[in-house]
Amino acid sequence: METQLRALQQEALDALEQTTDSASLELFRVSYLGRKGGRLTAILRQLGSAAPEDRPRLGQLANEIKADIERLFDERLQLFGSGTDSSRPQPVDLSLPGRYLPFGSLHPITQVMGEICAIFEGLGFAVAEGPDVESDYYNFEALNIPQHHPARDMHDTFYVTDSILLRTHTSPMQARIMEKQDPPLRYISPGKVYRCDSDITHTPMFHQVEGFLVDRDVSFADLKGVLTSFSQRMFQRDLALRFRPSFFPFTEPSAEVDIACVICNGKGCRVCKQTGWLEILGSGLIDPEVLTQVGYDPDIYSGFAFGMGVERIAMLKYGIDDIRLYYENDLRFLSQF
Ligand code: FA5
Ligand code: MG
Repeated sequence: METQLRALQQEALDALEQTTDSASLELFRVSYLGRKGGRLTAILRQLGSAAPEDRPRLGQLANEIKADIERLFDERLQLFGSGTDSSRPQPVDLSLPGRYLPFGSLHPITQVMGEICAIFEGLGFAVAEGPDVESDYYNFEALNIPQHHPARDMHDTFYVTDSILLRTHTSPMQARIMEKQDPPLRYISPGKVYRCDSDITHTPMFHQVEGFLVDRDVSFADLKGVLTSFSQRMFQRDLALRFRPSFFPFTEPSAEVDIACVICNGKGCRVCKQTGWLEILGSGLIDPEVLTQVGYDPDIYSGFAFGMGVERIAMLKYGIDDIRLYYENDLRFLSQF
């Protein structure tokens, strides 16, 4: 048995020398040290049948040989990078935390636009969206702003061609809807608009929600009622609204509506330019000229319209003092909403 042991030792050490990677090392481990069918293991099992007087000596020798082989085996295991032995399944650690998946969320402007739409839908308005790239006709002509009308100066327009442009407001949707449908009408139209304009309360692309209602006997009181009710629901409290006489070629009379500046509580700050008020929308009773153009009889029908700046409303709602923060894509800012 001793010769058997020594022969196996030599053979095993030679075989170990031949291993070149963790896969061949694993084959070696199975055939020599494996619990089932490992050759060294098999010899150790036979020790019980040796003569009692030989047993201690043989046992000691066998253990020395086994320790020797295991030590060399471990050295090679280190050499081949033991821990990453891909042929052996790695145990699953059920206590490890899961992998963190970052969540996206809606942009604050999208959220506020959704809220605005929901409030008007609650008041019975339907939602319709129109194209960002618009014709000169719908953006200006149909709204009583002919070529060379001075009111075109109020909008710094991005032109695509002489007659195609990026819409400067959502009002073109008034004409697009009215020419297809008959009164009574109650619509809002949210979307992006574009103007060559940039400072703390202006960006070159911003959002508006257009709203209009056409029916018999519509008066300025109806407009005031709808906008007051909107403001109460939007800001969840009674903020002062100021209707300031203004001019739009497509409404008569016209008013711009200011809301008490939430940022300074009306005391005056850089956002409200020290006035205590922030303009949120333009509005008025739809000009009879516009109604005639779409084929309505202004002696029978009247209506009101308004166009509000979504960014301005979002600034007031969240107390943001620079409109450009919405468009800098800083996640530290955006993830707060
Ligand atoms: C208009 O655009 C009219 N179409 C509104 C209207 C509709 C009047 C229907 C009558 C009937 P105005 O140019 O004032 O009006 O813009 C409306 C609102 O958009 C402003 O009150 C303001 O809140 C917002 N706004 C205007 N320019 C910018 C800008 N560059 N950046 C961010 N918000 C703006
Ligand atoms: Mg204005």
